[in-house]
Amino acid sequence: MHLDRTACHDRGGVGESVLKADRRVAEQAGESALEPLALLADGGLERRNGLLLDGGVPLPEIAARFGTPTYVYNADVIRAQYGALDAALAGTPHQICFAVKANGNLGVLRVLRDLGAGADIVSAGELARALAAGFDPTRIVFSGVGKRPDELRAAARARIGHVNVESLDEIEALAAAADAEAVNVEVGIRVNPDVSAATHPYISTGKGGIKFGVPVDQVVEAARRIVAHPRLRLTTLAMHIGSQLTDVAPYVQGARRLVELVEAVRGLGVSLEVLDVGGGLGIRYRHETPLDPRAWADAVAPVVRATGLSLHLEPGRYLVGAAGLLLTRVLYRKHSGGKEFVIVDAGMNDLERPSRYQAYHAIVPVTRRAGEGFTADVVGPVCETGDFFAIDRALAPLDAGDLVAVLGAGAYGFAMASNYNTRPLPAEVIVEGGGAWLARPRQTVEELFRDERVSSEAS
Ligand code: LLP
Repeated sequence: MHLDRTACHDRGGVGESVLKADRRVAEQAGESALEPLALLADGGLERRNGLLLDGGVPLPEIAARFGTPTYVYNADVIRAQYGALDAALAGTPHQICFAVKANGNLGVLRVLRDLGAGADIVSAGELARALAAGFDPTRIVFSGVGKRPDELRAAARARIGHVNVESLDEIEALAAAADAEAVNVEVGIRVNPDVSAATHPYISTGKGGIKFGVPVDQVVEAARRIVAHPRLRLTTLAMHIGSQLTDVAPYVQGARRLVELVEAVRGLGVSLEVLDVGGGLGIRYRHETPLDPRAWADAVAPVVRATGLSLHLEPGRYLVGAAGLLLTRVLYRKHSGGKEFVIVDAGMNDLERPSRYQAYHAIVPVTRRAGEGFTADVVGPVCETGDFFAIDRALAPLDAGDLVAVLGAGAYGFAMASNYNTRPLPAEVIVEGGGAWLARPRQTVEELFRDERVSSEAS
């Protein structure tokens, strides 16, 4: 393994401000940076006699049964999140469509389906997942900037609720798919409302000049083209302005832009049914004030209600983010180049967010031990200097062999995991009703190259 020592010392500032636990802010919030009480509560976790329990299940039990690294999802937290949002929208006709990309585990999808959620999908793969989990096809919405013709045909065949088109070209492709399948398709136009949202640039999606959505000045033309096709019926105007948003203002601004377009589209004789305001509701990873569903609904719902349309939304992270943690074991500690390292058995392939977005995830010991806290980089086994979960993080006492929980890992955790370094995907476990069940077994190494061949002759 090659490690670039320069990179070890100087990361060019990457993540350094974002990944460290800021003790001062934590202390102001009245809690220890080493025991983030609000985050534990968000995740359905509690500490009893020093031991961390998830939904009442001691995490060492889960590690003993299923090994590490393992994702653990708390179904009751998912239910509570869904319930809070659904209740906040009680006075408004609405449909919550879970963004499957955040967490496609069938067990998780089933929990949401049973609550009455629909599904927001972005590929034929996610369509198959959503159908396998039992979602009602009419509650499935297909988003995405680059849907292939075969994916559009699969959506048409499944008679899903609606397809949100993102370009004029895609309308022709969708019409062709509808003709080929000889079915009528309900269509939404995903509008790029050109609003800025304060979030990481990679996950800000509602600004002009990026690849997403139909620009405002092409929406009426898009509507005309949809109306002109006998098998397409325009029902929806949609937007999705970004992810991990903690402010309601951009939603209100975006929704108002959509409302202006409603009038223009109705002017073409179209009877719209739905305004889809997308996902993006932010959660607490650290000290953020998460979007309060009631405040969000109080701000956004009246704008939509005024149009008489049904409000659809596509949250992913909000429903499952806090509900999940990544359970991993400390393999080694080491001191090198004036720094402390904690090396755990999960890597960037299992949870990519810290490396990719310099995202902060709280890390807590599963069993509290006596001794001194310390500051260290928490890193994985993958052969990249960028394989880290935290840089210069203040940590509670930890030693080799200890279990740690990486919090807030329920959204875009397993979903973005890869087999890099030929590492099997971790197991996924759901806790509910005081017990734990295996929702997906850990991949085996054999599965990873079972279908490969060593030469053109080999069968
Ligand atoms: N609807 C559409 C059209 C989307 O593109 C997305 C997310 C959502 C809904 C759900 O957004 P959410 O409610 O989860 O914020 N991998 C990144 C996040 C990428 C989000 C992409 N689109 C991360 O780990 O932060």
